[in-house]
Amino acid sequence: MQFSYSNPTNIFFGQGQIAAINTVIPTDSKVLVIYGGGSIKKNGVYDQVAKALENYQWQEFSGVEPNPTVETLNKAVEIVKAEGITYLLAVGGGSVIDGTKYIAAASLYDGDGWDIMTGDYKVTDAIPLGAILTLPATGSESNKGAVVTKKATQHKSGFLSPLVQPKFAVLDPDAMKTLPERQLLNGLVDAWVHVCEQYITKPAGGMVQDGFAEALLKNLKSLGDDFSNRDSDSWRANLMWSANQALNGLIGAGVPQDWATHMIGHELTALYNVDHARSLAIVQPSLLRNQIEFKRAKLEQMGKNVFGLQEGTDLAERTIDAIEGFYQSLNVPTTLTEHGNDKAATISAILEQLKSHGMTVLGENQSINLDEMNKILDNAVA
Ligand code: NZQ
Ligand code: ZN
Repeated sequence: MQFSYSNPTNIFFGQGQIAAINTVIPTDSKVLVIYGGGSIKKNGVYDQVAKALENYQWQEFSGVEPNPTVETLNKAVEIVKAEGITYLLAVGGGSVIDGTKYIAAASLYDGDGWDIMTGDYKVTDAIPLGAILTLPATGSESNKGAVVTKKATQHKSGFLSPLVQPKFAVLDPDAMKTLPERQLLNGLVDAWVHVCEQYITKPAGGMVQDGFAEALLKNLKSLGDDFSNRDSDSWRANLMWSANQALNGLIGAGVPQDWATHMIGHELTALYNVDHARSLAIVQPSLLRNQIEFKRAKLEQMGKNVFGLQEGTDLAERTIDAIEGFYQSLNVPTTLTEHGNDKAATISAILEQLKSHGMTVLGENQSINLDEMNKILDNAVA
């Protein structure tokens, strides 16, 4: 193991914490508050933000859509440049926070912001940002990643930069009270798969990473099994903190990672508008079955330590069944049905997109090539 680890995001966790943002945003800032389709106006979050910012110069940009598009975000970039904005405040879920990260970097770049996503421009500067989280799922509120879509080409792409990691994040579970059931389930499943992508690889002997990953998986499994109690303060707080910890850099430090499920899932979202988390539940069981020989040891470890399964030669197989069964118990589908009925054309369209985005070799062993992706999709597309 060899790694450098730092998570500089200052987290304010708990009810009423939105009020704390004026202790961390410099008072002479010119703030742009960025949000989505307006859910924050229905749960009191917008009003709390306005109150906390009453002594600031601030304005707002709304309409960041789920799976944020560069076409929309570039409008905010224009505002930031024209108005001399010096601080960004993202208020929403992963889409708003990711979009704000893009705006932070693109606003201090003279070229086409999409260069950030292609890697043609490596971010060298960004406007500071903070986040108020309303949907626990992505971990974006305290990590350095962002995923943005170019609508024109249906290309969903990610970038990483420590310069866009939020300076602070407010995690107030009360903000979740207006979340539709579908989004709560999405959050749970996304966080679960984030842990899996950093854990179901090959054994690396990382006792802290494995142990913490297993604790998070057990939490998420309990919250799923206890979904009927989703209206309790403790259920909400535990999901919010678990989802945050699932992708804040800690469990992935120094161990192999495999983001293949995410990379293939992004194409399902871009082409068929599948919710991010649901794209993962569609791809992952099939991908794990395809890669079982590489992942057998960790699947067995997960079967024992997370699901409490009995030893046996087919333990890895039963672990994958248990993962798939978990999604199904939450009524989250594990096959793609959003594509119409031409399965062959669908698979070839997805493979074409993967190829054109350079996603031709994936997995911690580089063992998922286009042939394997074809087989994975054959089982994942209905
Ligand atoms: O737009 P508003 O009105 O806010 O409504 C949103 C949106 O319609 C709604 N919502 C959010 N909080 C709510 C609420 N509705 C009622 N009450 C609340 N408190 O939920 C809908 C979905 O929101 P979105 O932000 O799109 O969901 P999520 O947090 O799941 O984010 C998904 C995006 O994050 C990316 C995904 O690819 C996708 O684009 N990811 C980002 C990652 C990262 N930065 O580390 C990692 C992830 O793997 C993921 O790729
Ligand atoms: Zn995800």
